[in-house]
Amino acid sequence: MKINNRLKTIGDLVPLSSYPLDIGCDHALLSIYLVKERGLSKAVASDNKSGPLKKARENVKFYKVSDKVELIKSEGLDSYKEGIDTITISGMGGLNINKILDDNRKYLKNINTLILSPNNYSLAVKRKLIKLGYHVDNEVLVKEHNIIYEIFVFKKGRKYYSYKKLFLGPTLMFKNDDLTKEYYNSLLIKKKALLNALPKSFSSKIRLTKKEIKYLEEILNNSI
Ligand SMILES: C[S@@+](CC[C@H](N)C(=O)[O-])C[C@H]1O[C@@H](n2cnc3c(N)ncnc32)[C@H](O)[C@@H]1O
Repeated sequence: MKINNRLKTIGDLVPLSSYPLDIGCDHALLSIYLVKERGLSKAVASDNKSGPLKKARENVKFYKVSDKVELIKSEGLDSYKEGIDTITISGMGGLNINKILDDNRKYLKNINTLILSPNNYSLAVKRKLIKLGYHVDNEVLVKEHNIIYEIFVFKKGRKYYSYKKLFLGPTLMFKNDDLTKEYYNSLLIKKKALLNALPKSFSSKIRLTKKEIKYLEEILNNSI
């Protein structure tokens, strides 16, 4: 089936024996990929808008997986069903993802794995997940149409992270490939621009940004 590399990468991180829920499914291609190409027995795909769900319904029919992909129109985690143990949320702002998870914490009791790919505020997402009792199990980068997407795999269980580790990415900081370097480099450029733009009165933000620039320069120079 046709699926972009970003969604395929997310799909390949979903545990094979899981019962996954994709929140903000839009076209539902991720859930269709999971049952059709990866052999999962069932999946739930939800969205809070009718337009995307109409598209999802057409795709589920086209790929002949109506018996395996359940489509639900609902807000955030309201689509949770008994037995679901994995949640995927991608292509949304990080603060929206945090709100979805915060609003219905009770459903997280049975969730062992969350695969999240926020469009922004990824540090805030990592901090939220740690507060909710998860740790970073893996971080994967995908570059598509010149945009680098971050994908996080969170697993249940607490771990302590220093600010430096959490900022650089507890698993990403040990990856030494070209895309990871490109990602750190683009972050460095953004942080330097932010530092230049910050008014003098923002002293604590200036201190933090200088620290982040130092961490990025260290890791890019391999001196961490
Ligand atoms: C940009 S699309 C991303 C689609 C797909 N997950 C992807 O990564 O390609 C975001 C989708 O999330 C849905 N959405 C946004 N906020 C939501 C919420 N609180 N609950 C459920 N769906 C939401 C939107 O309607 C939209 O279809």
